[in-house]
Amino acid sequence: MRKPFIAANWKMNKTVGETMGFLSEFVPAVRDVSDVEVVLAPPFTSLAAAAEKIKDSNIILSAQNVFYEEKGAYTGEISPLMLVDAGCKFVIVGHSERRQYFGETDEIVNRKIKAAKKNGLGIIMCVGESLEEREGQKTFSVIQRELEKGLDGIDPLDLVIAYEPIWAIGTGKTATPEQAQEVHAYIRERLRILYGNRADELCIIYGGSVTPDNVDLLMACEDVDGALVGGASLKGESFTRIVKFRKVQ
Ligand code: PGA
Repeated sequence: MRKPFIAANWKMNKTVGETMGFLSEFVPAVRDVSDVEVVLAPPFTSLAAAAEKIKDSNIILSAQNVFYEEKGAYTGEISPLMLVDAGCKFVIVGHSERRQYFGETDEIVNRKIKAAKKNGLGIIMCVGESLEEREGQKTFSVIQRELEKGLDGIDPLDLVIAYEPIWAIGTGKTATPEQAQEVHAYIRERLRILYGNRADELCIIYGGSVTPDNVDLLMACEDVDGALVGGASLKGESFTRIVKFRKVQ
């Protein structure tokens, strides 16, 4: 049985003060949740303060990005060791916004995953197709390439795959449960080729306009094991409802 994994990706939102305000409400609101991994990825500047605030809670801290070198002359970058030092247990790698705006290639994603894993961080690796790729029937080939190249030489321990169709991110246009399930099942099939039966233990989470209104039906899909939530994770009440999704058959 895979434990549902629900993560907030705040992107470039919230100051330290705003992060603390959110956590003052959110920590008690989800204290009774024991059957879901609750993960929060605030911006770098909020990590250390958030780590302190959640230290006796069931919330797991994640970063949104990492560089693949340990230290050195890389102005503006953050190493895996620094993330561990700041209290992170996970890091998001290969988000489409990083691929799109910051030129991250599959090779860079692979190096980042290797460096993060070497330092003991769990990985939330994002894959997903653009609208043009979907309309050109390239969804599966794009995802196959991202998985093969990104996961080359990577063991599956603490690995979470996030399927995030780019056309659904921040657009309010969620994939239907059927569309999500189809791609999640495909991802699991590819993971089985890489990792054999261990693929059945890996969480494949969905991201792209997840809200309190659509989370229950998405989570009812057999291969949807969680969510990566952007916009709807910025308000405590809304993210709490997502974490406390209702099981529908
Ligand atoms: P969204 O973002 O929920 O705002 O669509 C999801 C993501 O990019 O991780």
